[in-house]
Amino acid sequence: MTIGIHDISAATGSLVFALADLAEHEGIDVGKYHRGIGQTEMSLTTEDEDIVTMAARAAKPILERHGVEGIRTVVFATESGIDQSKAASVFLHGVLGLPRSARVVEVKEACYSATAAIQFGLGIVERRPSERVLVIASDVARYELNSSGEATQGSGAVAMLIAKDPAVLEIEPVSGLWTDDVWDFWRPNDRSTALVDGKYSVQVYLESLEGAWQDYRANGGAEFSSFARVCYHQPFTRMAVKAQQRLARIADPDGESGDIDRLADTVEYNARIGNTYTASIYLALLSLLDNGPDLAGERIGFFSYGSGAVGEFFAGVLVPGYKAQMRTDELQGMLAQRRSIAYDEYRHRHIAYDRVGDFETADETQGDVRFAGIAEHRRLYESR
Ligand code: CAA
Repeated sequence: MTIGIHDISAATGSLVFALADLAEHEGIDVGKYHRGIGQTEMSLTTEDEDIVTMAARAAKPILERHGVEGIRTVVFATESGIDQSKAASVFLHGVLGLPRSARVVEVKEACYSATAAIQFGLGIVERRPSERVLVIASDVARYELNSSGEATQGSGAVAMLIAKDPAVLEIEPVSGLWTDDVWDFWRPNDRSTALVDGKYSVQVYLESLEGAWQDYRANGGAEFSSFARVCYHQPFTRMAVKAQQRLARIADPDGESGDIDRLADTVEYNARIGNTYTASIYLALLSLLDNGPDLAGERIGFFSYGSGAVGEFFAGVLVPGYKAQMRTDELQGMLAQRRSIAYDEYRHRHIAYDRVGDFETADETQGDVRFAGIAEHRRLYESR
């Protein structure tokens, strides 16, 4: 029996802010953003969007295609949680009308946790092959204004259905693992923006990649030269280039497998959406599936990283016919339809984000599900 990703779908916030606008107001060369970090735009959320509404928008096409039968587990991975106790997936469960007979949880470890969620899903399906697991990765990446991370902000969600005999990607059993207790990026309970030691975080990411790769190989993982492509966690797309160069240096110093041209199809969405934390590596996969050549039967590597820090390297094989499963026009349409905002509105929205107490939100989202506001400390959602 093979198990893996049976379906995959994404959504982003309904607003877009161009990094050219940010660079102009900062008085710097936009080349730093376009080439130096490899980002052109960031997706931002409207007042009535959050991790739940984006998750619903990403998951709906999957449920419409496959129904809810057999989905008895929903795992929601995020590092921008909306409640300290109640899982975001319970809100999502209500909004989507999922079956009552379900276990529904949220998992956290910075940008890494969606990979843990997939591994949990693989284990559940291995034990009960008739079940399917809905995995959601959804995040709003926010940094302080005028900080080094500001240009890497973004928002988005990826939903994946984990099942036997998958139609998209068969995930292989070997994983390489790495954990170290460090302070490269974190968000204490009293903050809505992340704290980050930018340069150090890049260094830890690369150390984690080396460690996870060595563990992957020590556990019988495939050779680097056997990967048609590698999808990396992309806090900014240039990070994937640094990662590919580092991995090629240790894993295949004389070969061509580390050619950075091979990354091109994996960075298209992330360059236009920005960092989506837990969703970022799976947006890289979706970018490859939508925009790359047909790689049916080829092995794809994955390096998942979460600050703090945890890394995992694993691999999967693309299933013949996967191209026919893609909804390329829908995501590209969603990207094109985002409402473009100028610098002043961007700044105003950033400051206004931290609302507390009871409030109602303006009706702005382009999605079907909206976050209507807070009443008596309860978050309210509505569908249309
Ligand atoms: N034209 C072309 N390139 C230019 C340029 C120009 N005009 N001006 C500068 N550059 C290049 C620089 O040479 C540099 O390239 P290298 O990285 O190859 O040296 C690149 O642009 C970035 O310039 P700086 O290093 O000066 O940029 P910075 O220090 O202001 O910010 C950063 C870089 C620290 C990574 C910042 O983006 C940041 O803090 N990001 C948030 C943290 C982050 O994303 N860390 C990644 C690892 S942690 C992780 O992965 C988890 C997560 O999601 C957060």
